[in-house]
Amino acid sequence: MNTNAIGVFDSGLGGLSAVKQMLKAMPNENIIYFGDTGRVPYGNRSKDTIRKYAMQDANFLLKNNVKMVVAACGTVSSVAPDLEDVLGVPYTGVVLPTCFTALRESKNGKIGVIGTTATINSHSYKERINEKNPSFQVFEQDCPLFVPLVENGIIDRNDEIVKLVVEKYMKDLKVAGVDTVILGCTHYPILKEAIGDFMGENVLLIDSGKETALYTKKVLEEKGLINERANNGNAQFFVSDTPDNFEKIASLFLSKDMKNKVSRINIEEY
Ligand code: DGL
Repeated sequence: MNTNAIGVFDSGLGGLSAVKQMLKAMPNENIIYFGDTGRVPYGNRSKDTIRKYAMQDANFLLKNNVKMVVAACGTVSSVAPDLEDVLGVPYTGVVLPTCFTALRESKNGKIGVIGTTATINSHSYKERINEKNPSFQVFEQDCPLFVPLVENGIIDRNDEIVKLVVEKYMKDLKVAGVDTVILGCTHYPILKEAIGDFMGENVLLIDSGKETALYTKKVLEEKGLINERANNGNAQFFVSDTPDNFEKIASLFLSKDMKNKVSRINIEEY
């Protein structure tokens, strides 16, 4: 079982922010990634639709005998937190690991949370933070234009459109004086430089992908599921639409050539 892959899914490219950190933290693990590029974005869809898509994504990974499923998607983690009960293998979303880090790191108790509209409407991050510490003030902001920017490769910190959209969404959080911002959608770490430029160096940006990767390692260790082989693992990537665009942006983000490394599947079969 411990040589089986870790299964990771997202609506598109966002979950690569978790994969990038998994490759660093657990280089000997095998990874199977599924990006639902044919149905992205999830963040403005209904709860029922998001749940149905998440089950199909997880089923595809389970068919590939993964030892753990990671929903590297803030939206799925927020609106379908009960997925764990039905999968039969260890599971994590991104909300809890990210909240633990924010609670630990914020000095002034003012935390900003940015995410998709579905995530922000669910108040998932705010509720988890206030359950642990009711005195923390949590300021929430949905950023529906961030995912299409990332999926279209418009991510350069010097791009005028990126700068304008970042300012539009981040200005109220800046005025509120938050010292920590949770990047509560896994697509957003891909825009981290631009968001950091606007918020300034004194504001800590918490990468939900990174926190989730570190938490995944902890779960595998606790359950005795770590792959103990010495050499590097193998990462396989699947999408539900044409792979070209995914390969291009993934190459940039993972800093490795992904050309012809991504396969298309029919997710409706799962
Ligand atoms: N990356 C996902 C998230 O964390 C999904 C974004 C979307 O598809 O709207 O929310």
